[in-house]
Amino acid sequence: MSDRKAWAPEMGQSGDTGFDIGERRPTKTTADNRCGDRSPLLEADWRYIETTELDDLSAEDWTLLNRQRRPYYADEQARQALRFLSCSEHDRSFGYQINNYRHCLQTATMAHNAGEDEETVVVALLHDIGFVACPDSHGEFAASLLANYISEKNLWMLRHHAIFQQIHLAGVPDHGFDPDERERWRGHPFFEWTANFVDRYDQRAMCPHYDTAPLSFFEPMVQRLFARPARTLTVD
Ligand SMILES: [Fe+2]
Ligand SMILES: [Fe+2]
Repeated sequence: MSDRKAWAPEMGQSGDTGFDIGERRPTKTTADNRCGDRSPLLEADWRYIETTELDDLSAEDWTLLNRQRRPYYADEQARQALRFLSCSEHDRSFGYQINNYRHCLQTATMAHNAGEDEETVVVALLHDIGFVACPDSHGEFAASLLANYISEKNLWMLRHHAIFQQIHLAGVPDHGFDPDERERWRGHPFFEWTANFVDRYDQRAMCPHYDTAPLSFFEPMVQRLFARPARTLTVD
């Protein structure tokens, strides 16, 4: 029986899906040669825990992790959300004149130009961050990302915006949805806001000629949003 690891490619074979992420060209990979390497710590004076299984962590280990966790999240969470968005900057479109990245920027620019508050501008920027990776529940994707930092009004809007979009999709031939499905929530305190967000910004933000702000314009806003005290913080 071979001692080759199940995930390790044989000589001359591709070890991944056959595509280099972002480049869309065939690649050949081998093992990453990082066996034994530790990932660098964010700060030079931080320490690693020496244990490698959660079951074995001591109270001292947890104290160390929790001390380094908060500044790590404060520094990295906004950066990672922005990276997730920016990696789609040059994505191709399936027919719309602008890709999802530009739609996100344009939605945020429209909200900013209309005088919406900073939280709403960031919510607009990230409302479709999962649109390609997680299309069928991309509203929940964005809601989960931002839930600890935004108002109930914007959280509800993120969760429901795709259904509220359906009234603008009545022209889809043989559509299998109810364009008026949003009426289920008529009278809800956040109904009008969600309908307005979709109508005024979301469904219009697909124009290649709209003077759209670059991501760098929104970065400080994203950093300030994620710097708000989180409602909860995961343990592991
Ligand atoms: Fe959406
Ligand atoms: Fe959208």
